[in-house]
Formats: sequence, structure tokens, C-alpha cells
Amino acid sequence: MTTPYDVAVLVGSLRKGSISRTLANALIGLADPRLALRLVEIGDLPLYDPDLDVEGGPAPWARLRREIAPAAGLLFVTPEYNRSVPASLKNAIDVGSRPYGKAVWSGKPGAIISLSQGLLGGFGANHHLRQMLVFLDVPAMQQPEAYLSNAGQLFDAEGGFVSPGTRDFMAAYLAAFASWIERAAKRA
Ligand SMILES: Cc1cc2nc3c(=O)[nH]c(=O)nc-3n(C[C@H](O)[C@H](O)[C@H](O)COP(=O)(O)O)c2cc1C
Repeated sequence: MTTPYDVAVLVGSLRKGSISRTLANALIGLADPRLALRLVEIGDLPLYDPDLDVEGGPAPWARLRREIAPAAGLLFVTPEYNRSVPASLKNAIDVGSRPYGKAVWSGKPGAIISLSQGLLGGFGANHHLRQMLVFLDVPAMQQPEAYLSNAGQLFDAEGGFVSPGTRDFMAAYLAAFASWIERAAKRA
């Protein structure tokens, strides 16, 4: 068997009871055998300030850049905050985008799963993130799209999917992402 693709997973919510984090953890157990998912934490990153970005900047910035660098793919799992991505995720993206010309994101294939407690499934966050990824040269998988609505009903108390349909959709999504990374790897 070939080595699975190393995928960095970024979760756009910092709260303890986060549904996004529950989802990210569930995905780790569900992932296509071609993928190895690992969480990269973003909650400890100081707000990006170019003035502090000398000799690697604050230690958590260097840590983020170090953990993203070897990844073959990027999976974003995020809620929507005010029709966009939470500031913590935007900050992580900014940190990883500098120093200028050395963005750690560049060229890595990505995928976005957004969620919300309402019916829109975080569509606004999903597409704001896509816009950033265009600029960062992260080819984001177009299909299937993943907007998870009614997120409060996705998981049982043990963090398992309530609906087999959602679980199957997520498994298919990850399989499509594995193929997306494979295609990018062949082009490289
Ligand atoms: C500051 C803030 C802004 C929010 N804005 C939106 C929004 O624009 N659209 C939406 O559907 N939900 C919005 N929500 C609700 C979150 O998407 C919802 O609470 C979600 O479960 C948070 O994800 P988490 O469980 O992973 O923390 C907002 C929540 C917060 C705290």
C-alpha cells in the first residue's frame, strides 16, 4: 500500500463544544485510506502584525508554518460568522501567507466544509474562503460542495453521525478529495 496523503485540517471554531471540531474528528475516522488527516491548531496564534514578523515571528506563527509546510492537502472545516469565516481562521490564513513570496499554502490542493445551525450551511463562509484560496494559489475542490445545515442535529452525544446519509456523503466527499489531491500530485 502506498503512503496516504498527509492532510492538514484547520477548524474555524475555537470553542470547546464546537460542532466543526466534532465533525473534523469524525472525518479522521471516516477518511478514505488514501488520506491521513491531522488537525493543525490555530487558537494560539497572535493576530498577524507584519511588524512582529522578523526571524520567524512569535513561536505559534512558526509552529503553524512548520506544520502546514509538509502537507499534501488542506481541509478547512468551518462555521460561518457574520456571513464570512471566523476571524481565527482568517488570521491563520494571513499568518501562513507571509513572509511575502513564502506562503505555506501555495499549490496545495484544498477542500472546504462549512456548517451552520441554520439552513444555509455556511454558504457565505465557504465562498469567502474560496475567494482567499484563489489568491493563495490553493486549488479548492469544486465538486462535491459541502454546506452542512442544521448542524446542531448532526452528531449524537458520542460524536457519531446521527444520519447515515450524512456520514456516507462525508465519506464520498473525502474520497473525492483524495482523488483531487492525486490529480494535483500527478500534475506537479
Ligand atoms: C460571532 C458569530 C457570528 C455568527 N454568524 C453566523 C452567520 O453569519 N450565519 C450562520 O448561519 N450562523 C452564524 N453563527 C452561528 C454559528 O455558525 C453556529 O453557532 C455554529 O454552530 C458555530 O460553529 P461551532 O459549533 O463549530 O462553534 C454565528 C455565531 C457567532 C458566534
